[in-house]
Amino acid sequence: MKGKIMSNKQLQVIILAAGKGTRMYSSMPKVLHELAGKPLVQHVVDSAKALNAESISLVYGHGGEQVKNKLDDETLIWCEQKEQLGTGHAVQQAVEAINDTSNVLILYGDVPLLSKDTLEKLLKAKDKQALALLTANLDNPAGYGRIVRNSENKDNSIVEKKVEKIVEEKDASEAIKKITEVNSGVMVVNGDKLKQWLAKIGNNNVQGEYYLTDLIELAVKEGETGNSYIVEDNKEIEGINNKIQLADLEREYQKRQAVNLMTKGVTLRDPLRFDLRGEIETGQDVSIDINVIIEGQCKIGNNVKIGANTILKDMTIGDNVEILENCILEKSIVSNGCLIGPFARLRPDTQLDENAKVGNFVEIKKSHIAKGSKVSHLSYIGDTEMGENVNIGAGTITCNYDGAYKHVTKIGDNAFIGSNTALVAPIEIGSGATIGAGSTLNKNAEADKLTFSRAAQKTIDGWKRPTKIK
Ligand code: UD1
Ligand code: CA
Repeated sequence: MKGKIMSNKQLQVIILAAGKGTRMYSSMPKVLHELAGKPLVQHVVDSAKALNAESISLVYGHGGEQVKNKLDDETLIWCEQKEQLGTGHAVQQAVEAINDTSNVLILYGDVPLLSKDTLEKLLKAKDKQALALLTANLDNPAGYGRIVRNSENKDNSIVEKKVEKIVEEKDASEAIKKITEVNSGVMVVNGDKLKQWLAKIGNNNVQGEYYLTDLIELAVKEGETGNSYIVEDNKEIEGINNKIQLADLEREYQKRQAVNLMTKGVTLRDPLRFDLRGEIETGQDVSIDINVIIEGQCKIGNNVKIGANTILKDMTIGDNVEILENCILEKSIVSNGCLIGPFARLRPDTQLDENAKVGNFVEIKKSHIAKGSKVSHLSYIGDTEMGENVNIGAGTITCNYDGAYKHVTKIGDNAFIGSNTALVAPIEIGSGATIGAGSTLNKNAEADKLTFSRAAQKTIDGWKRPTKIK
């Protein structure tokens, strides 16, 4: 049972995600809004998966089809809650798949920062009890359900006082509102008990809802003890209801990722101006300037510098690479020793071999640039197979599209393409060929020869510029 929780019970997870999310003012269900490039609910699903849960049930309501389509995950058990009658009612929609002998962990789809570590501690805190709650101590507990602990116990440490019940803010007396320990909503319950207690929950409260939190009182009445674990980092239990909270937790999440990278030795010029929306693997001496966005799956080698305002998406970057400011690089491979930018764009399926150079205002699409070749200024290179040590002059364009089809350009080793040349594909430039500046070529150019296609330069004697008649 390596990596599994202390208890020998199976773990089943229920994620509540049927809420409307009215305060997002969006046509998209709340749980699909993204944090670090990933839907909120996906963060929760991923945490559940990290715990090796036996099953994960997702209770959906509003925009359910959208959630299903976006997550596209057949390993989840999808449970529809047609009407949102409260958290207890929501869990009820998912009990069918729950085994009596399981530990059932209940999570919220809009609480994305909860860590695996915290969840493991909660499961450990449950121990052999019938249930355990994840709670938090907040300076401002307003809005949350309050944890009421056994008042008869004279011990002042709250952990020693057993949880008696949870009272929702809307149902709370002034005295209870003063309690600063709140219910995170996350709990773990024995499968059999969960089913028994859910059946007994009523909706006799201010909101007329079936409260999952009423479980606690039922448990206590039956002589069970509710254990609890107080979260160390309150951000972990924060839910998202509006765009302000979404932005706040986005920054929190980014800060954590930044700290994690810096701990591994990555230099971030300003961790507050760094965004990772995916996963990154880094070598030694990687230095990242401000406003860099890294998306998807990226791999970066040793001794790599990334300039300000650069975006990398699904990139593989070798060692000793320098990427200057304002580049957009996507789904491409950059080998050792390359120099890129500023203002360069690599579009998908591009491969730069060792020591290639791609300079400013250069766009490269679906092309292979072999060792040591240089495209230094103002060029478009598309669908091109380029040899080694080629020099592409400023303003060279591969005309790869005829309006209907894309065609390939081949350029041999050591070719030299003069500035402002248009290569009309399909075309092949032989190795060692030199192309005169300003040429438009639509036929192959032979190896080791000079080819050009511009009109010969003329001078006309006696020519006068037109002048205006007064
Ligand atoms: C709930 C808790 C409260 C706790 C707080 C923490 C109850 C009765 N109260 O209150 O003690 O402090 O969370 O944030 O449980 N949902 C459904 N179907 C429903 C109702 C809710 O799926 O019918 C989902 C929501 O999408 C959300 C979660 O359950 O993910 C919590 O619902 P919400 O209405 O935000 O709970 P609170 O009233 O804030
Ligand atoms: Ca509510």
